[in-house]
Amino acid sequence: MPHVYISHSGADSDALLQLHEALRAAAIADKYVVGEPDRAVADRDIAASFAVIVLVSAAAVRSRTVRADVEAAKANGIRIIPYQIDKARLNGFFKAEVQPLLRLSSALPDGMDQLVAEVSSAYKKKCPVIAVMNLKGGVGKTTVTGQLSGAWQEAFGGRVLLVDLDPQYNLTQTFFSMDHADASSGVDRSVISLFERSRLHAKDAASPAENWLELTTAPFTPAARDGFVHEILGTDGPAGRLDLISGQFEISKYAFANDRDALAAIKQSFLRTIDHYRSEYDLIVFDTNPNATFLTRCALEAADRVIAPMHADIYSLRGVRLLNLVIKDQIEAGKRPALSVLFNAVNRNEQSTFEGDARNGVYDAIAGFPLSKALMTAALPRSAHFAVKGPDEGQPPWRQLLAHAGRGGGLKAIRDSLKQVALELKGLGESGSSGR
Ligand SMILES: Nc1ncnc2c1ncn2[C@@H]1O[C@H](COP(=O)(O)OP(=O)(O)OP(=O)(O)O)[C@@H](O)[C@H]1O
Ligand SMILES: [Mg+2]
Repeated sequence: MPHVYISHSGADSDALLQLHEALRAAAIADKYVVGEPDRAVADRDIAASFAVIVLVSAAAVRSRTVRADVEAAKANGIRIIPYQIDKARLNGFFKAEVQPLLRLSSALPDGMDQLVAEVSSAYKKKCPVIAVMNLKGGVGKTTVTGQLSGAWQEAFGGRVLLVDLDPQYNLTQTFFSMDHADASSGVDRSVISLFERSRLHAKDAASPAENWLELTTAPFTPAARDGFVHEILGTDGPAGRLDLISGQFEISKYAFANDRDALAAIKQSFLRTIDHYRSEYDLIVFDTNPNATFLTRCALEAADRVIAPMHADIYSLRGVRLLNLVIKDQIEAGKRPALSVLFNAVNRNEQSTFEGDARNGVYDAIAGFPLSKALMTAALPRSAHFAVKGPDEGQPPWRQLLAHAGRGGGLKAIRDSLKQVALELKGLGESGSSGR
């Protein structure tokens, strides 16, 4: 379980210990620093917390540490929960940043209980994150991302977020016209705002898409859903929510940058922002680019699981082998996503020899890992229904989802196989078979 951070003045250690005990009794993990804090450590603990409790007192109002804690929480978009423990008069900074949030105080008879309840409700479960990836092009990553997410939403409801991490942004073009997608990226309402501070975060900010040579590492608070995501299943569609953060070409800039420190900071911003949205959705799915780049690393570090679509051929197998190598060599143990492989575009009438052999372990040695165990049982058939179609003018974007599309011949069988894959995927997540 992630932790809540307690910001306090050294003069308030009694109140700190009392709160620590109350949180412990409620099984809520906490972190705080006793004595003069190492700022970098405190900032890291705050950035990794789900909320920051601020013990507001006469001493805290004068404390530079508490002020720096509040600033760090704000910069990271972390929720601040102030708790007043004496009759402190608030100064300018506290009046502006803390007072508007201040509702709880030890002067109330059940103040501490209310605080613990507030902290518990601030801790929201983080949803799974899936990256659809294969270091081979054209195997159906984009098709699987969109169609499988639609089928998942149809089967289980809830809130699903698609993120188009491929600079080709085909996923975005599945649902919206190029003009619509480009107009969105023109105002930074696109994937670039997951990585860098942009006009979506502050009116006076420069667009990170404008200058390929500059990387912005300034911290930012994740943009509110309303002005950021595109609704695929909106209120005019079937019940539920399927949202998209649209793609744009300019995120290619990270592949050409060589400022390692700036890239590390940008990756952190991405991870933190995705983590923020994990509390607002029930599933997040990334569509990714077929070559190993900085974006691949970002996707792999943020994901719990990778779904690798593959065709029943040796080239797809090579892509899966490379993908497994990248995960093992480049991603730290403990952060590695689990890898599941999905046969896509197979002929269901006569299962190919290749697929049968793969399931029997014939290709495990070539793959360099137990491919037969990573293979999902369900598979997607080859069908013209999956063929890329541009969105029709005037039609809502959810019309592109086979789970909701019309009655065309053979669609029922396709919906069934998509549903089977969705069910299996849900089971994998719930059995907790993660590679981390
Ligand atoms: N199951 C399927 N049956 C028939 N056609 C399919 C199937 N899956 C994908 N396709 C088609 O194959 C082509 C490539 O699919 P898609 O664009 O999803 O691959 P991709 O892996 O995302 O490619 P890229 O590496 O360029 O991002 C598209 O024309 C798509 O319509
Ligand atoms: Mg694609």
